[in-house]
Amino acid sequence: MALGIRKQVLTVLMQGAAVPVIGGLCVRLASALRGPYKDKKYLANLTCNPYISPKAQIWAKDLEIGPQCFVDDYVTIYAHPDGGRIVLGEGVHLYRGTIVEVGAGGSVVIGPHTHIQSNCNLKGFLGNLHIGANVQMAPGCGFSPYEHKFEDTSRPIREQGITTRGDIVIEDDVWLGLGVYVLDGVRIGKGAVIGAGSVVTRDIPAYAIAAGVPAKVIRYRGRRAVEA
Ligand SMILES: CC(C)(COP(=O)(O)OP(=O)(O)OC[C@H]1O[C@@H](n2cnc3c(N)ncnc32)[C@H](O)[C@@H]1OP(=O)(O)O)[C@@H](O)C(=O)NCCC(=O)NCCS
Repeated sequence: MALGIRKQVLTVLMQGAAVPVIGGLCVRLASALRGPYKDKKYLANLTCNPYISPKAQIWAKDLEIGPQCFVDDYVTIYAHPDGGRIVLGEGVHLYRGTIVEVGAGGSVVIGPHTHIQSNCNLKGFLGNLHIGANVQMAPGCGFSPYEHKFEDTSRPIREQGITTRGDIVIEDDVWLGLGVYVLDGVRIGKGAVIGAGSVVTRDIPAYAIAAGVPAKVIRYRGRRAVEA
């Protein structure tokens, strides 16, 4: 199929994605006409409609998905009955194996043009997870705005309920390297960079580069020396 015609066909199919009853079929056909994995990102930019893979699993009553979002194969978006809202801003990308899950009144809000690579785990339980705009998240990152209670040694941890030190906030334009974990009550400031494999247990200032377990500031962007 000539390139121009193929684009027109895909555009019509993606326009059809929002039409009740036939929407699912339109998306399946559009998917079949593209290559695998990130080749399907193209479909998210053809119209205002988001591209939601037929292989994604979505079960959430209070869910907003903005225009031009990309929800890849095997992404799970799940709200327990007591979960709060889930918001994907315009142009958010969620890649395969990522799980977004809310319960116990918690919410997950992701700002515009934030890209979340494969196998990330985004939870909103008791506390909320707020991720700003233009955040770049490498594969395998995890966020837990709650912890299990565990002080009582006479009962299984499973029965002791959960607690939180507060919401997790990732401000705009943060880059999180491979396999970063962020614990409850932490705020990562605008433009910060977090090194691969870090566990972030305390707030990180704006434009800092932090790394390690626990993550410590090693320097600031654009400056060579570490500032205390
Ligand atoms: C943090 C990072 C951005 C580099 O920042 P940098 O300012 O150039 O840091 P340097 O390489 O000069 O290292 C400075 C110090 O931090 C340490 N360091 C760097 N990255 C680290 C990490 N991820 N964990 C622990 N320590 C780290 C270095 O060993 C060095 O320590 P030293 O001074 O004792 O020798 C980079 O190391 C990193 O982790 N990048 C993420 C890569 C990634 O996940 N890519 C996925 C693509 S989406």
